[in-house]
Amino acid sequence: MTASVTVAAPAKINLQLGVGAARADGYHSLATVYQAIGLYDEVTVACAEETTLEVVSDGVDVSDVPTDSSNLALRAAALLASRAGNDARVAMSIRKRIPVAGGMAGGSTDAAGALVACDALWGLQTSREDLLSLGAELGSDVPFCLLGGTVTGTGRGEVVAEAADTGEYWWVVALPGGGLSTPAVFGEFDRLSGAEVPEPEISRALLDALSAGSTLEVAGLLSNDLEAPALSLRPDLADVLAQGRAAGALAAMVSGSGPTCLVLAADEPGAVRIRDVLARAGVSALVARGPVPGAQVVTPL
Ligand code: C5P
Repeated sequence: MTASVTVAAPAKINLQLGVGAARADGYHSLATVYQAIGLYDEVTVACAEETTLEVVSDGVDVSDVPTDSSNLALRAAALLASRAGNDARVAMSIRKRIPVAGGMAGGSTDAAGALVACDALWGLQTSREDLLSLGAELGSDVPFCLLGGTVTGTGRGEVVAEAADTGEYWWVVALPGGGLSTPAVFGEFDRLSGAEVPEPEISRALLDALSAGSTLEVAGLLSNDLEAPALSLRPDLADVLAQGRAAGALAAMVSGSGPTCLVLAADEPGAVRIRDVLARAGVSALVARGPVPGAQVVTPL
């Protein structure tokens, strides 16, 4: 049996995040375009007598990550075990580089990573379709985190379909510090938008620009309906966006529910320049390329 398996699990960004009204189940209907970017958590699992979890920081504050059975990655392992009819225990270790509560699906991608890692560790060869449906039970973003690349999401975000994307995009991920609760940002969206909220639709123009691989066109079509509520809860983010734009960005916006902000650069040297300008202004930032594949095993099997 394999001693341990490590999976690289990428961060997600939303190139479009269209939000509709709250549904009867409390979730909001979404029309979103996801992209996975080259900023990774690492999930390692090994067979063990008892299930344990350690969370190791690699440059981000991990003090709010639960290490008990409420952790989504441990729940993913337990869900896969119960569906496979085994009671296997794992020693899990998560090395975190994706900001916690940063609007980049860090918890969801760890869960996707745990599904892929445990599937390999236990030799289950679960079909992609079954993994996606287990992912959807765990969280709205988990199916996307399994797929990676550039993907449309509808329903509450869990109904995924791959999108054509011939481009390479250089993102500066600005980390203003602190976190924002996703439910709180959706709540603020409800408060700000009032009674009549139209059903969101995926932007055909954005899909065409992605298919053509045109960074300039994509820059003009980025949109996030959670940006206004995130800015309402964290007005300081407006300064980060302004600094990104002043530093030569093609576009700047809040990532998902924030507070992480995204700055799109024309190319890699441009992204490095913008990151350095932000760093001199006291905003820590890193450079990541998209799209990249979803959660995948990186240890040799
Ligand atoms: O699906 P997930 O557990 O990741 O969602 C976290 C929270 O974000 C939900 O409990 C809900 O408050 C909010 N959410 C939402 N509509 C969505 C996705 C998430 O309101 N489509």
